[in-house]
Amino acid sequence: MTTPQHKIGSGFGARSTADDVLQGIDLSGKLAIVTGGYSGLGLETTRALARAGARVVVPARRPDTAQEAVGGIDGVEVDELDLADLESVRRFAERFLATGRSAEFVIANAGIMACPETRVGPGWEAQFATNHLGHHALVNRLWPAIARGQGRVVTVSSGGHRHSGIRWDDVQFERGYDKWLAYGQAKTANILFAVQLDALGRDAGVRAFSLHPGAILTPLQRHLPKEEMVAAGWIDEAGNALDPSFKTPEQGAATQVWAATSPQLAGMGGVYCEDCEIAEVTIEDNPGRGVRPYAIDPDEAARLWRLSAGLTGVDAFAPIR
Ligand SMILES: NC(=O)c1ccc[n+]([C@@H]2O[C@H](COP(=O)([O-])OP(=O)(O)OC[C@H]3O[C@@H](n4cnc5c(N)ncnc54)[C@H](OP(=O)(O)O)[C@@H]3O)[C@@H](O)[C@H]2O)c1
Repeated sequence: MTTPQHKIGSGFGARSTADDVLQGIDLSGKLAIVTGGYSGLGLETTRALARAGARVVVPARRPDTAQEAVGGIDGVEVDELDLADLESVRRFAERFLATGRSAEFVIANAGIMACPETRVGPGWEAQFATNHLGHHALVNRLWPAIARGQGRVVTVSSGGHRHSGIRWDDVQFERGYDKWLAYGQAKTANILFAVQLDALGRDAGVRAFSLHPGAILTPLQRHLPKEEMVAAGWIDEAGNALDPSFKTPEQGAATQVWAATSPQLAGMGGVYCEDCEIAEVTIEDNPGRGVRPYAIDPDEAARLWRLSAGLTGVDAFAPIR
């Protein structure tokens, strides 16, 4: 049964924090894997899950920096992972599988935004490769270890998905690069991935969700020139947040924590969330509100899965021949 892409009246909102949505939820004995769980929204997610009793594995491309960031938090362990390097993804997944543990929550949070044209692996565009293909390979490799009957996979997308659907005729931007189209495509891919994973995984009791966390000043904006952020009205010349709709990191982490843990979403999946709610479908250009129809289209989702499985060589659901 597919879940309608409509609000459910969660009672939470844009100002809810990760701790708010975890009120009364005991995560003792549960394990979460949070990619990028040592910076920005990921760090707040790690902190909140750990406070609620979960063990949190933080795979990091800079393990020393990660260790410094999460060092004081009980129940958190750091491992090594570079999502732009499929060998690194394989090694991390194999190390995790070898521990014999299972994960109730996998939060695909790590990401890069609007970087200058960068090529990784066999020449792949870096935002698509890091934000989507790396997570595709990671989740598929971790699939045997995702808790049956109670597992959730959450992909952190963005309202920026409105910039682009999947550019089927030029996925790798071989005919000219645009940093926002590339971010948009990668964030649409995060949503479509959750749609298809939910369809494939729900019989095993593993559900998938995607979300927009809100707009939050974090190191994610590292590739944006200050003038661009000033012109967009996000910050003033001194770097202070100007846009009153911006969230704190604690508020920004709330929707991913809610999607991963909330009993309000029991029996649901495949939907895109925002402000600790299921979002509505929209074609209006209202930044950060709603999800575009192309991003939740099941045919697009299946097509992207086939493409990603072909590119990465990883598909936990491939028929055995
Ligand atoms: N902040 C916002 O306003 C906003 C809005 C919409 C969506 N989002 C989404 O929210 C997520 C988290 O963003 P954030 O704002 O918390 O940004 P952030 O502070 O920059 O955190 C991103 C994390 O991803 C990690 N990462 C980047 N490339 C990686 C790679 N190749 N392999 C492994 N890890 C990698 C980074 O590691 P390093 O620190 O080592 O580089 C960092 O830990 C992203 O997916 C972003 O697209 C954020």
